[in-house]
Amino acid sequence: DTLERFIRRLPKAELHLHIEGSLEPELMFALAERNGIAIPYASVEDVRAAYAFSNLQDFLDIYYAGAGVLQTEADFRDLAMAYFERAAADGVVHAEIMFDPQTHTDRGIAFGAVIEGLLAAMAEAEARLGITSALIMSFLRHLSEDAAFETLEQAEPWLDRIAAVGLDSSELGHPPGKFARVFAAARAKGLKLTAHAGEEGPPAYVHEALDVLGVDRIDHGNRALEDGALVARLAREGMTLTVCPLSNLKLCVVDDLAAHPLDRMLAAGLRATVNSDDPAYFGGYVADNYRAVAEARGLVRGDLVQLAKNSFTGSFLPPDAVARHL
Ligand code: ADE
Ligand code: ZN
Repeated sequence: DTLERFIRRLPKAELHLHIEGSLEPELMFALAERNGIAIPYASVEDVRAAYAFSNLQDFLDIYYAGAGVLQTEADFRDLAMAYFERAAADGVVHAEIMFDPQTHTDRGIAFGAVIEGLLAAMAEAEARLGITSALIMSFLRHLSEDAAFETLEQAEPWLDRIAAVGLDSSELGHPPGKFARVFAAARAKGLKLTAHAGEEGPPAYVHEALDVLGVDRIDHGNRALEDGALVARLAREGMTLTVCPLSNLKLCVVDDLAAHPLDRMLAAGLRATVNSDDPAYFGGYVADNYRAVAEARGLVRGDLVQLAKNSFTGSFLPPDAVARHL
């Protein structure tokens, strides 16, 4: 068995995936044409050439512009369906998908069009591809907490279809504590909580996500490794980290995959998982992430099995469903 086949055949959950980040240039062009929207690129090659980032903000500017082609419920369904097809081919059997409602509602798209399109694709993915999924509604941290509260209010009719809230976008200067009240409100509504922390931000932001927000999961968490006491705490509490190797490379969180900390995280007893983050922008889906980091860091098959197990243990599936996957 080749490493590639082994990885694809390993049943896995994907826990850190922004659905807007799965918008491939080909679909971007198709939707631009379907919706009569001009995009500042001449060709698919031209788009891919623009995907050279030196930090998170560089990427976010291009990512939010790209999302402008998404207009109708059908667009969101097509976007998510394309992701599910690709994920199924990679051996993903469960996906917890983040979406950024404010990226769309702020340009006049109805919250209902976004979520109904995603829910339609989720139902089709389960029926036709056998993939289960859940939604994580992420707040944009460069916007205000009041704006996040408005989004939580708009989501009210669909709260039983949303598993969790998340926190993404520009990390530096927007610490988790800025969203303390809206995360408490989300928790009171029965939602799980996750937040990007320690991608570009310091270990103190990871502490804040744990202590002030009370998150159930940390997205990325790379910089936690700078703080030994924090590492010990994350290990002791069995906190899941949703690590994204190719994202880390493309956004210069690591200079080289050969320096990626994934195996150090596992060695420190952290419940690390492997995920794709924004696969259309970072050059690979989840199996590509497993393979790239395995080759760069010399992971053995036992490590890959552990990472796949962690993806179920760290998921928001109910305990009986987790047990069926282990
Ligand atoms: N939005 C989409 N991908 C993101 C990332 N890696 N970090 C922060 N916000 C994001
Ligand atoms: Zn992310």
